[in-house]
Amino acid sequence: MQYRQLGASDLRVSEISLGSWLTYGVGVERDRARACLDRAFELGVNFIDTANVYGRGAAEEFLGEALSGRPRDSYVLATKLFFPMSDTDRGLSRAQVEKQLDASLRRLRTDHVDLYQCHRYDPDAPLDETMEALTRAVESGKVRYLGFSEWSPKNIRDALALPGARFVSSQPQYSLFWRRPEKEVIPLCAANGISQIVWSPLAQGVLTGKYRPGSPPPSDSRAASQEMGGFMERLTRPEVLDAVEKLRPIVAEAACSMAQFALAWVLREPNVASAIVGASRPEQLDDNVGASGLEIDPALFARAEEVAASALRVEA
Ligand SMILES: NC(=O)c1ccc[n+]([C@@H]2O[C@H](COP(=O)([O-])OP(=O)(O)OC[C@H]3O[C@@H](n4cnc5c(N)ncnc54)[C@H](OP(=O)(O)O)[C@@H]3O)[C@@H](O)[C@H]2O)c1
Repeated sequence: MQYRQLGASDLRVSEISLGSWLTYGVGVERDRARACLDRAFELGVNFIDTANVYGRGAAEEFLGEALSGRPRDSYVLATKLFFPMSDTDRGLSRAQVEKQLDASLRRLRTDHVDLYQCHRYDPDAPLDETMEALTRAVESGKVRYLGFSEWSPKNIRDALALPGARFVSSQPQYSLFWRRPEKEVIPLCAANGISQIVWSPLAQGVLTGKYRPGSPPPSDSRAASQEMGGFMERLTRPEVLDAVEKLRPIVAEAACSMAQFALAWVLREPNVASAIVGASRPEQLDDNVGASGLEIDPALFARAEEVAASALRVEA
């Protein structure tokens, strides 16, 4: 496993990291979730991403228990706040930053998180109030560094103009099928000591080639799952699955797996510090971690980008 510096922080994170959206504490049963986490560590993953809202606290609770036997300085732990935790608890106000951070620390059974992320921008909370509260969280030692997820270039610029603690990470969706961050977010972040840690780099599994056009999704896959499959409609359209079929011969020339090709493509961007994958089985991590350090001919990436772009044009 290779490691990259996370923005202007002293954190070094594994190029492949493990996330917990939909999976741990929710759709993947406990022993299997535990096996995934253990395998990730064996393979050199040192970076775990979660959020208070994943399973409304259940993912953090799972991780709190599963991580409790490991030295706290042997992994980098990231969580987030913003989305509703109850009818009245949501957003990035001072009161919510304080309340949600303490609740996350309790569930995670730790006295600090390495990265605390604003899961979205909150138009209802004054940005200077949010940044002051986050800065105090850093000064208190409960948080080491700050990040945001899916903020617009204007949101990012506004935050950079304020005094106090600075963001070191941005968490956008990024994959061969979702390249929006390239235009503005990545250059802006690269110029300001902010790395990308990207979500759904495998397009929720679609880029692994497991979904075939015209066939029902495999019964053990996310798309077939009642609990986990609710966000995959866009990604399992025929034109997208046809494009994945066209990627196969390109990936064959690269002599790696489909998943490794898709992750290596994300990691070709130097501003990406880590690709956050989900895993429902330990073997998926063996496959995915193989992307770290993989050298792939840029000409193959260029061909893959053309194929993916054609699917997106059809979709648009
Ligand atoms: N900031 C945000 O708003 C946001 C949003 C979404 C996610 N995230 C973060 O990003 C993380 C990753 O998102 P994601 O789970 O959508 O990522 P992903 O890596 O694109 O998809 C993960 C899913 O694909 C399948 N898979 C993974 N590796 C595979 C392999 N080698 N072969 C076959 N199937 C494989 C598994 O599902 P099955 O086996 O069940 O098919 C797995 O759960 C989340 O856990 C979360 O931490 C953040």
